[in-house]
Amino acid sequence: SLFKKTSKMIGFVIPDITNPFFPQLVRAIEDVMYPAGYTTILYNSDERLEHEVEFIEGMTAKYTDGFIVVSNSLKWEHLQQLSVPVVALDRHIDERLSSVIIDNYDGAKKALEYMIKRGCKTIAHLAGPSDVFTSSERKRAYEDVMREHGRPILLKQGHYELQKGMVTTMQLLEEHPEIDAVFAANDVMAIGALKAAARLGVEVPKDISFMGFDGVQWGETVTPELTTMQQPIYEMGKKAAEMLLARIQDSRMPVEHYVMDTSLKIRNSVR
Ligand code: RIB
Repeated sequence: SLFKKTSKMIGFVIPDITNPFFPQLVRAIEDVMYPAGYTTILYNSDERLEHEVEFIEGMTAKYTDGFIVVSNSLKWEHLQQLSVPVVALDRHIDERLSSVIIDNYDGAKKALEYMIKRGCKTIAHLAGPSDVFTSSERKRAYEDVMREHGRPILLKQGHYELQKGMVTTMQLLEEHPEIDAVFAANDVMAIGALKAAARLGVEVPKDISFMGFDGVQWGETVTPELTTMQQPIYEMGKKAAEMLLARIQDSRMPVEHYVMDTSLKIRNSVR
């Protein structure tokens, strides 16, 4: 109605601010929201549903005008009762909820085909968390490409975290010394994997190749610089913010699903 209370605040739920992928999204969202007169309130969920629910319910009571959520556990049931618009970012939640994502399967497939073209033979996969949409799509592509090329499937499920990337790579390389390439489900894990290689004294990319996914700036600061599948991170955040603004201004806007493309960033970690 004309008298609907507005706060000029929006909430943004992310899993983990220490992963450099997420601050880049925050930057983009604020760049759209701030000039439009909105403050962005940030919330780290640690991928936990109870935190996410607590936040969106608490914030709605304070007349938040809308939400952008990066979540794997929130379901349509949690969001439909909110009186404000919600846009899902990076991870698809429900057909009925507008979203901005990338084609994770296609991105992973392109990354792996490049590795094969460069002569990588035994490619292992550091998968992300098992219940996360982005990670299962990338894993599915890995399995398909390996099968298609008659290569062994060597993968370990992990977390989108540096330490996890390092430890898992150590284990993989101990168990399978024949591995000559590793495809990590995100850059932070790939950087952990590079650390493992350094500790084991193997040369990158001469002895072993590493491919990341995301294209965060950290990838340029390591040695050798990380070859990766670049997500249009800033554009994704910007698009999600624009979609939310449009829905705050007009609640009858139809549901929209926006899928963006990735691009290969060739640097020095793949042979
Ligand atoms: O690095 C964080 C990861 O979680 C990214 O790959 C992103 O796509 C998300 O799902």
